[in-house]
Amino acid sequence: MNKTVLEAKQVTKHFTDGKTTVDVLRGLDLKIEQGQFVSIVGASGSGKSTLLHVLGGLDRPSQGEVYLNGQRFDNLGEAERGYLRNQYLGFVYQFHHLLPEFSALENVAMPLMLRKESNFKEVKQQAEYLLDRVGLSHRLTHKPGELSGGERQRVALARAIVTKPAVMLADEPTGNLDRKTAIKIFELLRELRREFNMAMLIVTHDEELAKSADTILHMQDGIWVPD
Ligand SMILES: Nc1ncnc2c1ncn2[C@@H]1O[C@H](COP(=O)(O)OP(=O)(O)O)[C@@H](O)[C@H]1O
Ligand SMILES: [Mg+2]
Repeated sequence: MNKTVLEAKQVTKHFTDGKTTVDVLRGLDLKIEQGQFVSIVGASGSGKSTLLHVLGGLDRPSQGEVYLNGQRFDNLGEAERGYLRNQYLGFVYQFHHLLPEFSALENVAMPLMLRKESNFKEVKQQAEYLLDRVGLSHRLTHKPGELSGGERQRVALARAIVTKPAVMLADEPTGNLDRKTAIKIFELLRELRREFNMAMLIVTHDEELAKSADTILHMQDGIWVPD
């Protein structure tokens, strides 16, 4: 039995806007083991992004608990959650969220530079390795605006993985790419997962791509439903 790296217990989330309350997550359980690849599919508005935010400590659940590496995570303060996020989690979004003024190398190095103990030479080596690994060793000094959509997503993957996270959370990472590029990005994700023994939780609209996961979860109106 593998170790559980990320777990949600009966997580709910509601948003209140004046008098109306929207129940977005309605009591979700989830368990992700070391190295496991889980995909989540569901219609737009079903609560997938909200769940990823809650799992990643970017937002708090209304009720329920989140555990990261066995440690209760959701009830910690902002700074502690930020620290644990940097240690154990990597994020990839539909839109790359790279910093436009910085080169590919600087963008990838950033999560390591944020660590107090970081050594500039080692950080640079690690960032270069990851960019080489995603096939971009010839684009180190390019800024995001000088890269194609697929290349930008590769840089975003390299940035998410440079810290060797226990879990990568990806929210429609290929939603903005053509199908051929999307398939390549998924292949790369699978390779990187093996190399780093990293768990992956990927939200996707694409049922075909979702099928390459160990486990597929279907979400509808904030709860899991059978396929
Ligand atoms: N900050 C927020 N305030 C109010 N409603 C929100 C907020 N974030 C998300 N929602 C609502 O929650 C529902 C689920 O959103 P989301 O998690 O983004 O779905 P998905 O990612 O599956 O498309 C939507 O109806 C959305 O309008
Ligand atoms: Mg979403």
